[in-house]
Amino acid sequence: MRPTFAVINLSNLKKNYLNIRRKVKKSKVMAVVKANAYGHGLKEIVRKLNSLNKLKPEYYAVALSQEADELRKYDRRTPILVFEPFTSGELNLLFKNNLIPTVFTDAHLNMLRYAIRNHKEASKLIKPMKVHVKVDTGMNRLGVRYDEAFDFIKKLSGNKNFSIDGVYTHFATSDERDKSFANKQLKRFKQLLEKLKRNKISFGHAHAANSGAILDMPDSYLDIVRPGISLYGYYPSLETTESIHLYPVMSLYSVVNAVKYVYPDEGVSYGLLYRPKKKIKVAAVPIGYADGFNRALTNKARAIIKGKIYNQIGRVTMDRIMFEIGDDDIGIGDRVTLLGKYKNFKIDAWDLSKALGTIPYEITCGISSRVTRVYKN
Ligand SMILES: Cc1ncc(COP(=O)(O)O)c(C=O)c1O
Repeated sequence: MRPTFAVINLSNLKKNYLNIRRKVKKSKVMAVVKANAYGHGLKEIVRKLNSLNKLKPEYYAVALSQEADELRKYDRRTPILVFEPFTSGELNLLFKNNLIPTVFTDAHLNMLRYAIRNHKEASKLIKPMKVHVKVDTGMNRLGVRYDEAFDFIKKLSGNKNFSIDGVYTHFATSDERDKSFANKQLKRFKQLLEKLKRNKISFGHAHAANSGAILDMPDSYLDIVRPGISLYGYYPSLETTESIHLYPVMSLYSVVNAVKYVYPDEGVSYGLLYRPKKKIKVAAVPIGYADGFNRALTNKARAIIKGKIYNQIGRVTMDRIMFEIGDDDIGIGDRVTLLGKYKNFKIDAWDLSKALGTIPYEITCGISSRVTRVYKN
């Protein structure tokens, strides 16, 4: 095996998941496993969560019907919600896998209605087809506007081809300290739910809470919560509370595979961007931007080698990065921790995120398929 690999700690996943479950009490859990379970590996993440038997997620959510198609190989039964709007080219995947599409326009419904009668895969569908309606309460991305949602849902509820299994919305700012806009969105959503109830229009499950809301907005739990990043051990921002204890699931390791001296009139890596003032010892480590170790980390990353922290120097290249290692006794084959803990030291996805101006979501999703995932129970 290549000496650069990610360790996926499934017992940390279980701890995070059960901590979330405990916090949301009676609400069901829709585990968000899009983008290959945020880079952790769809198959193993789903298998681990499903091994929790009675406590397993009641729903899974993915972005794409192609992701759901893969998930169906590992889980034949759990309902799967697809967040992204579907296209006509994806109808076969929706039907053959009994997926729950997100709907919010008449165009979606017309396409489905026609296809339910005419598409060759539609015979596999359990009818009426379950759908979730996405309501836009202020994110202004996807969904029927909150002030138009009642009419849309009312009309849909009269259509025998469909059963409304859920109505949901998504928060734009639940991970911010100031929850005023998130609360405004929640209020708009709850007003809609009340109106539907008053008019005896059944809408199945109501859901809204992503990780930020699960941490800080108990009023938003409703029937289902939708944790993503928190399952994988990270808070969605540095502004939420840490009301649930979370443990990072992904660690990232490599080894030293070359050591050399560099002299004061020389530079290191492409562009010779790093120019030592004195003679230094440099260790090369076989991970680069093709592995998702972002090129913008140039001269910014750090690693733990033999219990000490070292600075990365020079351009991050496609397959390799370099560290200044002082005069330390470091040689070929020594373990390099790029994400993870070693004794008193810890580097997590926030350290890389801060250097890159991003968030842990992008760090874990970005670790490419070239990096083998090793699963630890
Ligand atoms: C609709 C929806 N719900 C829930 C989530 C999970 O969000 P988080 O990872 O912040 O918990 C996402 C992720 O982007 C999403 O798009």
